[in-house]
Amino acid sequence: MARQVVAVLVYFLVVFANGKAVRENSLNYYLDTVLANAQIIILENGFDPTTLPNATTGFNDTILGVTWHGEAALYDGWLHGISTLYRSGDADFVLSDNIISGISGTFGLGAMEGHYNCLAKFQNLGPIADVTLSNEGGSIIFTAALNHQTCRFEMSSFDLTHITNFHVEIHGLGPLNWILDIVMGLVINTVKTFLKWVIEEPIRNIVNQVMALVDLGPLGPIVGCETQSQGPAVPWKGIPGVPHKTNANSN
Ligand SMILES: *[C@@H]1O[C@H](CO)[C@@H](O)[C@H](O)[C@H]1NC(C)=O
Ligand SMILES: *[C@@H]1O[C@H](CO)[C@@H](O)[C@H](O)[C@H]1NC(C)=O
Repeated sequence: MARQVVAVLVYFLVVFANGKAVRENSLNYYLDTVLANAQIIILENGFDPTTLPNATTGFNDTILGVTWHGEAALYDGWLHGISTLYRSGDADFVLSDNIISGISGTFGLGAMEGHYNCLAKFQNLGPIADVTLSNEGGSIIFTAALNHQTCRFEMSSFDLTHITNFHVEIHGLGPLNWILDIVMGLVINTVKTFLKWVIEEPIRNIVNQVMALVDLGPLGPIVGCETQSQGPAVPWKGIPGVPHKTNANSN
């Protein structure tokens, strides 16, 4: 059963004033509030750990003039660490015609850890190997546009521009150890492609859903919006439009 999600919706404590430091503090504090809430939604929606996709690749070897074909399959994969999303620098205002039209900045991902089982089939062999992977995260460059009517930001770009190198260890291929590099290449390609997709689609959607709910607080007047009255913290059961995944590791 899905646990009920209660958004934190931390309120702003920064006193409003016009100084640049306060502008930057308010902006950073707003983004930290958004991310603190997004982290909870990421966990509660089964994205940390997240299920990695299955993948297969073919390989071959020529023995006494005969070419034999094999297949390596990755399955039962998971990746831990997506909820480590954090603000990795000061955010900036984006100005158009001297009016604040948005914000830009960078987020970081912390260390990731994952696992796959790998079944390699070749001739009459079928070892199941153990694949562990880890890296030091990555970085996201974003721009969020301000909707002056609703006084809310929405990500207009959210790109995972850098993924640190994955360290991959594979144990158990036995006599098929000669396909180590092939399996390693498959793991790295599959995980990088998946990580880019998961950050730029569902995680971006989660951040947008949170930005649609979090009050701008003292940032409102700075960006040219009235501060809205505060409602009570909103209880969430999950986010519409974000697939709710159940995960064996989450309970
Ligand atoms: C055999 O594998 C090599 C590289 O691993 C690949 O380039 C080649 O196309 C494969 N050959 C066949 C017949 O599948
Ligand atoms: C992944 O592969 C495993 C093992 O072959 C299989 O049981 C599972 O259904 C596959 N999952 C998907 C989503 O295809």
